[in-house]
Amino acid sequence: MTTENQSDIPETGPGGEGPLHGVLAEYETPGELIEAAKAVRDAGYTKWDCHSPFPVHGLDPAMGIRPTVLPLLVFAAGIAGLGGSILLVWWMNAHNWPWIVAGMPAFSLPANIPILFESTILLAGITAFFGVWALNRLPKLWNPLFKSDRFLKATDNGFFISIEAADPQFERDKAETLLKDAGATAVEAIHLDPDPTRWQIPRPILAFIVITAILGLVPFAFIAKARVTHGDQPRIHVFPDMDFQVKADTQQRLVIDDSPVFRDGQVTRPPVEGTVPRGQLRQDDHFYRGLEGDEWATTFPAQLDIDTSTMDRGHEQYNVYCAPCHGEDGLGGGPIHERALEIQSPEWLMPTSIHDQNVTRQPHGQLYNTISHGIRTMPGYRAQIDEEDRWAIVLYLRALQRSQKALPDDVPPEERAQIR
Ligand code: HEC
Repeated sequence: MTTENQSDIPETGPGGEGPLHGVLAEYETPGELIEAAKAVRDAGYTKWDCHSPFPVHGLDPAMGIRPTVLPLLVFAAGIAGLGGSILLVWWMNAHNWPWIVAGMPAFSLPANIPILFESTILLAGITAFFGVWALNRLPKLWNPLFKSDRFLKATDNGFFISIEAADPQFERDKAETLLKDAGATAVEAIHLDPDPTRWQIPRPILAFIVITAILGLVPFAFIAKARVTHGDQPRIHVFPDMDFQVKADTQQRLVIDDSPVFRDGQVTRPPVEGTVPRGQLRQDDHFYRGLEGDEWATTFPAQLDIDTSTMDRGHEQYNVYCAPCHGEDGLGGGPIHERALEIQSPEWLMPTSIHDQNVTRQPHGQLYNTISHGIRTMPGYRAQIDEEDRWAIVLYLRALQRSQKALPDDVPPEERAQIR
């Protein structure tokens, strides 16, 4: 028995020597528990709790439990996730590196709905999960109340109130009298074990947590180092999967051990000279190569319908494939050009203006050839754009060039009056 124990209530349970954890009172019925809870609530205690084998209706208001702030936290996290991801996709796609892909807008909400939705629920979900833990001060692996044999009834037929000594207004005698006056059948003091190692986190577990936390930083240290140093070793390949395997592509020369498929190591026989793949006999020089005889074609090939739908197609294809460099106006200041200036790329050469005399004077066939095979530093686009679309682009280029040098005669007579 400790000297501070002045009341006549017997000291029960083990560990009576250690620091006081709090007092525990037992009540007979849920009704008495509720009445007692009101008394404790009105006395102004904050660190206390009720324990019952089943949920007791009306106990929350009797304890003065206010609605939790968790929904607000989750809502705020969801909004932060939504706002953050909008900012992220906008910053990356429309601000930091506005890159035209297939003529689509740099920033558009519908395209990013999956990202916005995912980050909203991700942040909200994480906040809900860890919020419950944090607000309830979890994980709590052990509660000193478990030392009381009487407390075992809390899962059976006992109703309890415990007040912790950590409560700012805790005074043992007052607390015990309060609980007793509220109708407790028994009140007992709960002491921690005198040996602190029994209720503190064991040293080895603490050491394990600290060591794993430190070890967990090691990969980040390696990553940080790799970002600022150079090495001559290949990267670590954690999952080789089928990345390194003996295989050969068509027409590759490969010798496996001593048994090549063919004696020269070639995995397939070269095609007979003059072989043309099926459907690729492109004899029409005008359509496929932009040539009329030995000269660049000055007319459009017969396959091309010169109408507004071809013009629209050319416009669209130009905006997809050419505008990123040449700009939608053809002057050469597309977003890739702007970006190149921004990062001061030393290799960058400004795309030629398609309104340059040198270009406007070129025959249709020569423009077609530039699109197909590129020119000097400009790559060719024959792999991406089929012949008909290349011609449609040439058609559109002509319209674009004309737009800069239009003459009054180009305007339909009935609209000429509007020219100022
Ligand atoms: C990757 C950027 C890029 C794209 C995409 C691009 N160009 Fe170019 N283009 C250039 C550059 C750079 C030059 C100047 C090349 C030089 O002089 O070395 C150029 C030059 C040209 C010229 C002038 C050729 C000459 O005879 O001087 C034409 C015409 C042209 N481009 C048309 C197009 C068309 C049509 C497309 C779309 C199919 C296109 N370009 C797509 C970068 C681009």
